[in-house]
Amino acid sequence: MTRISSYVVATIPALVVLGFFVWFANWIPQTRWSPPEKQDIGAAMTPPQLAKVGKIIVRQRGCLACHTIEPTAGVKGQGRGPNLANIAARRADGAAGGPDGLIDYLVQALYEPGAFLVEGYANIMPGSTRPPAKLSYEEVVAVVNYLQSLGGTPSVKVGDIPRPPGEAAATVSVTDPAAMLAAFECSNCHSLEPGEVLLGPPFEAALLKRVAAERGVSAEAYVIESIVHPRAVEREGFPEEVMPQDYGERLTAGQLQAMTVYLLTREGGE
Ligand code: HEC
Ligand code: HEC
Repeated sequence: MTRISSYVVATIPALVVLGFFVWFANWIPQTRWSPPEKQDIGAAMTPPQLAKVGKIIVRQRGCLACHTIEPTAGVKGQGRGPNLANIAARRADGAAGGPDGLIDYLVQALYEPGAFLVEGYANIMPGSTRPPAKLSYEEVVAVVNYLQSLGGTPSVKVGDIPRPPGEAAATVSVTDPAAMLAAFECSNCHSLEPGEVLLGPPFEAALLKRVAAERGVSAEAYVIESIVHPRAVEREGFPEEVMPQDYGERLTAGQLQAMTVYLLTREGGE
């Protein structure tokens, strides 16, 4: 009996060690660094919820490479950029020579940092929707709420502030023209089947080229104009003013180019 119990007793340290390794093995993956994930931001989120996400984004997307958030330090802080602590109180009225009001000020500071420079600083901050931070519109909304929470109260909902200048609609980052047709809802009104008329004319390369030639313009110019300024080039026999007028803002130059090439070279259209 003593033999057995001493055997059990002798095993305990081994079990403890084993247990430690099992625990350790399970623990490692959770603490391993992983690349920042796109934050999930819904239109229904409240400003305080958005502010929480914004706080994570500011930490994950490199803002703190230049900015500090030190409540006890002055504006200058220790960073390459201003100390963001208390910015909502400090910029409640915006800035003389810059946008009026906190929200407009923050929106511009994020989209176009070079448009107004905080005194004593150089123009080194990249626009937040560009690399490396590459914030989406929704992420900008979250960051604005977080910055509001530094000395003020978050109040902005998705849709309240303007989208980034020249940005394509949030869901549409596709570059494949066939996917773009669906993503921009072109295919609701334009069929790819020759002869099939939905609300607008079907996309047939030969047809587009013919109409362009009739109007004495290049096929590319005609297609681009039709997408960007649909009213300028109404096609007879189709309802006017149905096609959305804002594709010029929603499509990036690259998307417009890819779409135009696709529509004019598509197989089955020639
Ligand atoms: C490479 C350094 C750098 C990075 C990265 C950077 N900033 Fe800045 N930021 C600056 C500098 C410098 C200024 C002051 C000059 C100016 O107004 O552009 C500034 C200004 C600002 C201001 C206005 C501050 C004030 O006191 O009025 C805000 C707000 C701001 N940045 C937010 C951000 C956020 C959010 C991020 C991350 C998405 C970020 N910045 C990333 C350098 C940076
Ligand atoms: C709500 C319906 C609708 C949507 C969505 C729509 N269009 Fe149109 N489109 C039309 C109508 C109607 C016309 C013809 C009248 C006109 O020219 O405005 C037209 C005309 C065109 C023309 C000229 C065609 C020709 O044969 O002369 C092109 C090119 C075109 N659209 C491309 C697009 C693209 C690309 C998209 C998506 C990015 C799109 N459209 C989305 C309705 C739509």
